[in-house]
Amino acid sequence: MSILNGKHIVLGICGGIAAYKSVSLLRLLIKAGAEVQVVITPAGKEFITPVTLSALSQKPVVSEFFTANTGEWHSHVDLGLWADCMVIAPATASTLGKMAHGIADNMLVTTYLSAKSPVFIAPAMDLDMMRHPSTQTNLALLASYGNHIIEPGSGFLASGLEGKGRMEEPENIVKYLEDFFSKAQDLAGHHVLITAGPTYEKIDPVRFIGNYSSGKMGYALAEECASRGAKVTLVSGPVSIKAVNPAITTVHVESAREMLEECRKVFPETDIAIMCAAVADYAPATCSDRKIKREHDDVPVITLVKNPDIAATLGAEKNDSQILVGFALETDNETVNAEQKLYKKNLDMIVLNSMRDNGAGFGVDTNKVSIFKRDSDPMDFPLKTKAQVATDIIDEIVKSL
Ligand code: C5P
Repeated sequence: MSILNGKHIVLGICGGIAAYKSVSLLRLLIKAGAEVQVVITPAGKEFITPVTLSALSQKPVVSEFFTANTGEWHSHVDLGLWADCMVIAPATASTLGKMAHGIADNMLVTTYLSAKSPVFIAPAMDLDMMRHPSTQTNLALLASYGNHIIEPGSGFLASGLEGKGRMEEPENIVKYLEDFFSKAQDLAGHHVLITAGPTYEKIDPVRFIGNYSSGKMGYALAEECASRGAKVTLVSGPVSIKAVNPAITTVHVESAREMLEECRKVFPETDIAIMCAAVADYAPATCSDRKIKREHDDVPVITLVKNPDIAATLGAEKNDSQILVGFALETDNETVNAEQKLYKKNLDMIVLNSMRDNGAGFGVDTNKVSIFKRDSDPMDFPLKTKAQVATDIIDEIVKSL
């Protein structure tokens, strides 16, 4: 029996050629035992008729806020609460833009904004629309809100062109949902500590030593763990992103010392700790309580002191049942450095990303990693979104539990 049996699924359909594939998707969801409520945009109805969809789903298709002749109100709030998940397939560029920016001018977008459940988005459009910076920015925004983007495939497009933009095949969307729900609870009962982002080491009230870390990888890990049932404590340096899942408690810190202090408070209660933060190795020995002025000809000298190594400190304190995972961001001699850190910091696993790989490292939405464990050969993964990399990392951790 499919894990989707009995699940309440809102299927959102937008106005794109790929809407014809939504019929197969609906059929497969129903076959898997799900109860499906279709919500279609006005443009969607130009591509596929509500009659087909309501016959297959055995429910009236919702498109307008109310039924014109009776005045019956369709509550997007009730629908958002009813859903165990919402799947928007196909998601057009226009609807992605509306969802990303809260333009709630149709039933599909209002339902999305009211949804408390996980949301899966399967974009479909022409390759140029897909790679346009506004589409990419909207997708990145939607992913940062905790939505799951089911990446479109490459191939022959309705426009006659070839490229990325084909909606993922219905069978694979169903598989994606089944994987999501079957994994959903494999971290239930676990408490995961994650560090993320940079640290800021104060020089004076207006200046600091920091780095380019955006926190995206650590936050993606936190969302992945929370969506798989874990309680998560996320100790985060200064970043401009927010955690979405309510199972994540974010503790905001600035310096490495503060980060260590907060980690030590929760570490004894955690069974998994993932050190993803880009911690400054050094901090100014003193912090001036006033802004250092450019009064003299002399150049000020800032004396640095070593910061504590949070991963190594927790490594020395950990017990046998705790799993400690580190990251290594290297520019050269990658494998040797990663392996050395694995043992030196008493880690169970280390995730290596090289600054030499395009699309990996600070700020970007993608990453390319290799995972080193003590008892097995390194595993190399291809370039993926940080959300997908988070899934790979957590899959490996779960195997070690
Ligand atoms: O030694 P290096 O900084 O390359 O090690 C990286 C790993 O150690 C990362 O997991 C990082 O979060 C962690 N680290 C730490 N405290 C430091 C420096 C690094 O926890 N002061």
